Amino acid sequence: MIIASTTDFRRAAEKRLPRFLFDYIDGGAFAEKTLQRNVDDLAEVALRQRVLRDVSALSLETKLFDETLAMPVLLAPIGLGGMAARRGELQVAKAATAANIPYVLSTVSVCDAKAVTEASGRPIWFQLYVLKDRAFMRDALERAMALGVTKLVFTVDMPVPGSRYRDPHSGMSGPWSGVRRMKQAVFKPGWAWDVGLHGRPHDLGNISAYRGKATGLADYIGWLGENFDPSISWKDLEWIRDVWNGQIIIKGILDPEDARDALRFGADGVVVSNHGGRQLDGVLSSARALPAIAEAVGGQMTVLVDGGVRTGLDVVRMLALGADGVMLGRAYIYALAAGGQAGVTRLLQLVAAEMRVAMALTGVTSPAQITREILAQTHP
Ligand code: GLV
Repeated sequence: MIIASTTDFRRAAEKRLPRFLFDYIDGGAFAEKTLQRNVDDLAEVALRQRVLRDVSALSLETKLFDETLAMPVLLAPIGLGGMAARRGELQVAKAATAANIPYVLSTVSVCDAKAVTEASGRPIWFQLYVLKDRAFMRDALERAMALGVTKLVFTVDMPVPGSRYRDPHSGMSGPWSGVRRMKQAVFKPGWAWDVGLHGRPHDLGNISAYRGKATGLADYIGWLGENFDPSISWKDLEWIRDVWNGQIIIKGILDPEDARDALRFGADGVVVSNHGGRQLDGVLSSARALPAIAEAVGGQMTVLVDGGVRTGLDVVRMLALGADGVMLGRAYIYALAAGGQAGVTRLLQLVAAEMRVAMALTGVTSPAQITREILAQTHP
């Protein structure tokens, strides 16, 4: 199979993964309108083609916080990433280090933060969810600091899990889900051998490390619902700020008022996000929400974004809409499922090449030059 784009990786992932996993990754909430709009609205962002501006010395290098990155791209936290390929998060970490971009490890990863840091060979970024068990959170923060993590991505858009219709249909949740998943795995022998047999243990590594016993995969969706804390408010975040000695980035901001609150709270950054369309269907796409948020807090804190980004061209569009850095989610998980670490590396090469084309043809030679100036005025 020829792989030339994220679309190809997606197709290859669909072939390789059992249905329940593919649908968990690929799907969104309710009718998946926001999921689709994330992609569609971004595709509608028109650029100004500029020519004859000597773009021979083009560089993607970017400074984000105190880090110099090969490009303004990050790998987003994804729950159960380690089920897409054998010990998947370890493979992603290696690809991210080789490409010199950050990998944000999810709280609900399969491999634990210590193993992922070892694979990474340098500190990772860590994403934390608000769990009811605050002792777990304190423990997770302490473990992360001991591993040299300085960037905490605190996700706040999941007080309750979204209604995702694909999960009960696919066997990710619902009656007889274990048996149904088993049956699907039989028909995906490549995955069954690689991950089903040799990718064990299948559990939530960070949670198991804390509880001292395997946690959470038999009824993962149920586990999320039971353990996530809907009572969370800005007040609760204060103790985290007191415990944490690095930067705090609040993920799941879609409204300028919330972005201002994050700034008042003292966050170092936000991630403009609707959780990849996986939470509340009908909310704005990230591309539509981003400009007002960048206007409200840009320049005062770092503004990251995810949602619908499938290409390097999309990365450039998000930067033009006001982002300082752009997260890839599904795009790299498809690549991981399709080709492991090499797949992620290939995807990142494609993204970098696509960024170069988009920059060359909009007449800019560095990410810092990508501003609203490169957007075409499609609506007078
Ligand atoms: C978890 O973060 C999910 O979106 O399923």
